[in-house]
Amino acid sequence: MDRTKKEELCSRLAAVGQEHVLAFWDELQPPMRQRLAGQIMNLDLAQIGALFQAATAPENWADLARRAMAPTAFRLHDKQRAFSAEQANDRGQAGLESGRVGVILVAGGQGTRLGVDHPKGMFSIGPVSGASLFQILLEKIVARARSCGMRIPLYLMTSPATHDETVAYLRANENFGLAQDDLKIFCQGTMPAVDAQTGRLLLAEKDQLALSPDGHGGMLQALAAHGCLSDIHQRGLRHLFYCQIDNPLVEMCDPVFLGFHLLSNSELSTQVVAKRTLRDKVGNVVSIDGKLRIIEYSDLNLLSDEIVERRAPDGSPIFWAGNTAIHVFEAAFLERMAHIGTALPFHVAKKAVSYLDRAGELVEPQRPNAIKFERFIFDLLPIARQAIVVEVDESQAFAPVKNAPGDPRDTPESVQAQMIALHTSWLRAAGCEVAPGTAVEIGPLFAQSAQEVAERVRPGLVVTQPRFFC
Ligand code: UD1
Repeated sequence: MDRTKKEELCSRLAAVGQEHVLAFWDELQPPMRQRLAGQIMNLDLAQIGALFQAATAPENWADLARRAMAPTAFRLHDKQRAFSAEQANDRGQAGLESGRVGVILVAGGQGTRLGVDHPKGMFSIGPVSGASLFQILLEKIVARARSCGMRIPLYLMTSPATHDETVAYLRANENFGLAQDDLKIFCQGTMPAVDAQTGRLLLAEKDQLALSPDGHGGMLQALAAHGCLSDIHQRGLRHLFYCQIDNPLVEMCDPVFLGFHLLSNSELSTQVVAKRTLRDKVGNVVSIDGKLRIIEYSDLNLLSDEIVERRAPDGSPIFWAGNTAIHVFEAAFLERMAHIGTALPFHVAKKAVSYLDRAGELVEPQRPNAIKFERFIFDLLPIARQAIVVEVDESQAFAPVKNAPGDPRDTPESVQAQMIALHTSWLRAAGCEVAPGTAVEIGPLFAQSAQEVAERVRPGLVVTQPRFFC
């Protein structure tokens, strides 16, 4: 029986030159064999070969970037907008009060760049409270649901590396106030890493391939596979606010953004910030052949200044719109796309991936040795029938924590400084005095805006010590 299994696997693998992954088969105990066999049977080996071939002839980003135009957007200081921010806010509020809004939060990342070994959502970021990213974001959902008088369910995406710890952490913290029935945690799929020179699959252990999450674009298939799309349907949700786990400043279910989305009949909307420099590490929202697309910083930044600094005839930069990775999706659009999810392209990333050599010794490369394949959810942009772009003020809504201390940007320190600055401005606008250099933090359950702060604090309050308003 075992012999037939090995032969079956071997012939499958040999057909595509990948039989080396069975090198240690004879040493493995039956459960380990079963695990490896399961992983191999789950692979689309022909697809992996084709992806590796395509990776050696990557997309011509220079050509795309030369053709790109700045996207049409609802810009912050544009007086000619088709709808005002007030109109959008009213429409967004009405949308929220209809009870048809849910949230998708992607949290499959592990915080590798941050240098932590846990799900990134567990990272403590509150400058005074020490609250984790999960706590802040989940409390923001609870607060928004409370203020609009409706339930707002959360679909939280994890990856095999973060799933169990995330589930245990949220359970231990009673989901930070979110009802169990309003939280669905679903795990995304994986893709194997291959050797960058040869395209050979890598073994992480003798009974295990080196697998990594398939990118946030894997969300489409995962939502369908775990029954989330039918849950969304059954609950009658129509609009899904989407954000990433790393941004504690996200304005959860932002009524203005939601309002622009609804007023424009958009299927997929994207919130952007004006980039500080043209080579900022954010995706670039552009229009190519009349369709919105995002060119990642990792691709744009390889190109010459002549391309990156391109300007429109009025002198404004083409690549001004930085992707915050905050979107609103129409549920019907997601349902339609779930069926074509497998058609989303894979992007390649060269990464350092540990692997077993022929002798079964673990090699831990310091430099990229492998290719990982990821799908990006924003590749749905050009497929949407209607897609819009809305600018938001970075100081109020975008402070992603990405890098370990010491980096020039997007570090825990820089994010905390931005949180303190925003919350100080809310308190001062409410007539409070905050002594310079004093750390203040407003918990989402206390207030989510300058206006809510003004309703809850007494003018004339003087803050001279670090203080957490909760
Ligand atoms: C991402 C965006 C970039 C945007 C920036 C804003 C991509 C490819 N690029 O960059 O356009 O300007 O955020 O902060 O997304 N994740 C998963 N599963 C995966 C991969 C990622 O859940 O398989 C989640 C991570 O947990 C994280 C988010 O997606 O919340 C972003 O991933 P990350 O690799 O940090 O993207 P960035 O390069 O920072």
